[in-house]
Amino acid sequence: MTWIITSFEKTPKMSTYLLAFIVSDFDYDYDNTSDTEIRIWARKQAIEEDQGKYAVNVTGKILQFFENYYNVFYPLPKSDQIALPDFNAGAMENWGLITYRETALLYDRDLSSIGNKERVVTVIAHELAHQWFGNLVTIKWWNDLWLNEGFASYVEYLGADEAEPEWGVKDLIVLDEIYRVFAVDALASSHPLSSEETDINTPAQINELFDAISYSKGASVLRMLSDFLTEEIFVRGLNTYLRQFSYGNTIYTDLFEHLQKAVDSSINLPTTVGKIMSRWTLQMGFPVITIDTTTGTVTQKHFLLDPNSTVTRPSKFNYTWIVPITWMKGGIENSTWLLDSQKTILEMKLDGKEWLVANINVTGYYRVNYDETNWKKLVNLLLTNHEHLPVINRAQIMADSFNLARAKYRETTAALDTTKYLVSELEYIPWQAALDNLAYFELMFDRTEVFGPMKKYMLQQVTPLYKYFENLTKNWTHPNSLMDQYNQINAVRVACGYGLQDCETMAKTFYSQWMANPNDNPIPVNLKTSIYCSAIASGNEAEWNFAWKMFQNAKIATEADKLRSAMACTKHTWLLNRYLHYTLDSTKIRKQDATSTITSIASNVIGQSLAWDFVRANWRFIFEQYGGGSFSFSSLIKGVTQRFSTEFELSQLEQFKTENEDVGFGSGTRALEQALESTKANIRWVNENKEAVHDWFLNAVNSTNPALNSLW
Ligand SMILES: *[C@@H]1O[C@H](CO)[C@@H](O)[C@H](O)[C@H]1NC(C)=O
Ligand SMILES: *[C@@H]1O[C@H](CO)[C@@H](O)[C@H](O)[C@H]1NC(C)=O
Ligand SMILES: *[C@@H]1O[C@H](CO)[C@@H](O)[C@H](O)[C@H]1NC(C)=O
Ligand SMILES: *[C@@H]1O[C@H](CO)[C@@H](O)[C@H](O)[C@H]1NC(C)=O
Ligand SMILES: [Zn+2]
Repeated sequence: MTWIITSFEKTPKMSTYLLAFIVSDFDYDYDNTSDTEIRIWARKQAIEEDQGKYAVNVTGKILQFFENYYNVFYPLPKSDQIALPDFNAGAMENWGLITYRETALLYDRDLSSIGNKERVVTVIAHELAHQWFGNLVTIKWWNDLWLNEGFASYVEYLGADEAEPEWGVKDLIVLDEIYRVFAVDALASSHPLSSEETDINTPAQINELFDAISYSKGASVLRMLSDFLTEEIFVRGLNTYLRQFSYGNTIYTDLFEHLQKAVDSSINLPTTVGKIMSRWTLQMGFPVITIDTTTGTVTQKHFLLDPNSTVTRPSKFNYTWIVPITWMKGGIENSTWLLDSQKTILEMKLDGKEWLVANINVTGYYRVNYDETNWKKLVNLLLTNHEHLPVINRAQIMADSFNLARAKYRETTAALDTTKYLVSELEYIPWQAALDNLAYFELMFDRTEVFGPMKKYMLQQVTPLYKYFENLTKNWTHPNSLMDQYNQINAVRVACGYGLQDCETMAKTFYSQWMANPNDNPIPVNLKTSIYCSAIASGNEAEWNFAWKMFQNAKIATEADKLRSAMACTKHTWLLNRYLHYTLDSTKIRKQDATSTITSIASNVIGQSLAWDFVRANWRFIFEQYGGGSFSFSSLIKGVTQRFSTEFELSQLEQFKTENEDVGFGSGTRALEQALESTKANIRWVNENKEAVHDWFLNAVNSTNPALNSLW
């Protein structure tokens, strides 16, 4: 017998949770142009197929970027990153040996979509950011997790932007972090970013902190902070913080103190960084800023999505915030601070035709409401000259309107009015914001008579976009920019999803070509998810079984994931039920993918009740199989309950909670409370809005919308 001895360099002083070593027969690709030894490890076949190449190409650039940004050298002589075939989290930032899911590190030039590529570069940037912020300087205890994760979730956009400067990826933080987390932070069941050290003791309590609040709200408020301090001051404070605490521990106020020290006379703060930020970290939620342009009066109020909910969590600041206000009037930008619940800003008083939009680029963590006159001006501007508004604010006008309507500040039909201009919108960010909000209407109404007129309206709005992209490229190849690629995907997904004949035919044609020649998939890679879904939805067992076979043979995890979500699109109950049962068998569906597969099935209007019955019937088993270290229970509970909008469904949910109290809900405990709250709000919302929304959709189809005539 031969012994193989491996000896390691001396480990720097570090936290135990960041230590990793791996025994494998993996292979690696590497970058020999960098001073730091950069290696990307994966299964031998994946390396042979060059799937690590993209990670190799971006890692050096991102490390270099962070060295400059932090103004601190990368602390280690080497950077290993490894793709693991079965890994529960997205990635883990172990110092010098970062572990990833395959989909978060590997990229195949022919088989991966633009979304896969963006994911790889942002996850790499996130984990590399931690090598300093989190690893070189570590938080003292898990209660400050939000600072660690929020910070990395903010600067991942900066790192990715460095690696892919053409993409405009920094703008995506609005959709992917701010709007995502607004949805939960607007509930009375939300919680502050910051927790007390003494409240976080058990692994379950620690696990529960890995939520959208810590990641996305953390990222959002740090972006706001960097914006009002200016990036120059922000990085200066960051640098002295990292230098003082290298190889040591901190609490979150240490960072704010260093940022305060960096503040100089070039900016005007109303009080200290710590005092401003305590409003955002110590109390949950965020404000809605209401601007009355007839008087210039600006007010703030805690924004609650459900106006009937009661906040039981006290706040020593009584839910008022110190708010950086930015706005644009007559094409000129300006800013000020709102310190109390009300203030009059005479520059915000408008004359005649003037309009005003506030929270430019949504750098502030708040929503904005106006008097109805200004709202009407903004809707009119969208219909006539939408490009006069920044792209992100076009998205904001729709997103804020829909959420203000949910919270009863505005009529639901007034929010729907903001979407009429979409017939002439080609940009991704506004479209995505609209679709994210209209998704709620689909969930609430796709089992009701409202769906007929809604479907007609959606087809009317999306057809010009579909035709635009059909004409832009030959045979649905991909356009140049990232945003266009994403919006091409939207055009196809929505057009096919609502049954546009041309789109369904296109999908069927592509898919049958593939079935006829399985070794040569002709489907444009970005559109695979939508085209597979459409073809499987309109197809039968043969289409499904073909997808299953291709899923089992998939060479790359991202391809398998696309097929896995598309198989949930079938309209056949028995196929959906068979598929659900596959999730209990880890030889068919990997453990790491079980919950997201069930969630996909639940998102199909036909699969919804099947998935719910399945989860109820198998809760104990699912919990025992996937409990413990799992992060995905909250998305499972959210996924299977998202259409709940009847008293009957509410009582089923309550019963589920009672019956499984002994088993427990693990990391889904909070999600279950949120699901109960959402269901009650949905019931009320549907009762109050169904009729008006039905009429609105009926009237909005074939309306004499000027944009509709001018464009086509
Ligand atoms: C910006 O607003 C301040 C008051 O908040 C005002 O004094 C100043 O004139 C404004 N600047 C511009 C360019 O409008
Ligand atoms: C808003 O975002 C756009 C797109 O990223 C950018 O070009 C513009 O400079 C931003 N405006 C401000 C005031 O930061
Ligand atoms: C199709 O694209 C061409 C330019 O590529 C343009 O001239 C033409 O107007 C477009 N047609 C439609 C229907 O948009
Ligand atoms: C488009 O697809 C058709 C049928 O698959 C093919 O015959 C044609 O050559 C393709 N055109 C281009 C420009 O790729
Ligand atoms: Zn992280």
